Amino acid sequence: MKKFLLFIAVASTLMILGACNSSDNQQNNELGEQYQIKFSAETINPKPNKRVLIISASPRKAGNTDLLADEFMRGAKEVGAQVEKIFLGDYDIKFYTEPDAAPGEPIQWPQDDAQMITNKMVDADVIVLASPVYFMNINGQMKALIDRTFSRFMEIKDKEFFYITACADPLESTAMRAIDGFRGFVMCLPNPTERGMVMAIGMGRKGGVKGSQFMTQAYELGKKI
Ligand SMILES: Cc1cc2nc3c(=O)[nH]c(=O)nc-3n(C[C@H](O)[C@H](O)[C@H](O)COP(=O)(O)O)c2cc1C
Repeated sequence: MKKFLLFIAVASTLMILGACNSSDNQQNNELGEQYQIKFSAETINPKPNKRVLIISASPRKAGNTDLLADEFMRGAKEVGAQVEKIFLGDYDIKFYTEPDAAPGEPIQWPQDDAQMITNKMVDADVIVLASPVYFMNINGQMKALIDRTFSRFMEIKDKEFFYITACADPLESTAMRAIDGFRGFVMCLPNPTERGMVMAIGMGRKGGVKGSQFMTQAYELGKKI
């Protein structure tokens, strides 16, 4: 039994390292065809009443990314999707810690909301990841949730993804840092498709995104689910 558990642990570690190898990703970016994420502006899963899960990670309710998430939701609802938005700040999500289960014992994950949100990710057709740029990456709230999907991440398969980010810099290259953060997660999942993104640049002030072209972009993107 011990040998079997050791084998599972080694195999899953190798699998993750293989899927997430960053130098490979750089190559994949260049080579295209080996890249783990498919790209499609149009849906690859046309069906009515799609289940859309929006994960809004900013601590600022009605902040820039949260407002963009709402606009995306408005568009998606208009075309008949079943949309649920999770504002991460409303939930308790502990950091990933290594479960210390004895052989044969069930793994005890922390008792918080991460499992419930992960289950919703498994059930969704479309997942929208929304995070501000924090120090040239996604924020800690989003990353903490991503790490906690570890118990079921291989079941988050065949999903379509949209990304929403905002940053103070007026540079798309800064916003791309968060997009790369989202992609680091998404490329580790089975058969993901990236559908589109909103990068609201030059948005330092809370609510600065109101009335901007980025709100229209988010709404229009929501209608394309
Ligand atoms: C901790 C922290 C780190 C930040 N780091 C960056 C950064 O590296 N680059 C940048 O352009 N903006 C940075 N910002 C600004 C936010 O990305 C920007 O204000 C964004 O619009 C916030 O989105 P929100 O309203 O959805 O929270 C940072 C803000 C905070 C609070």
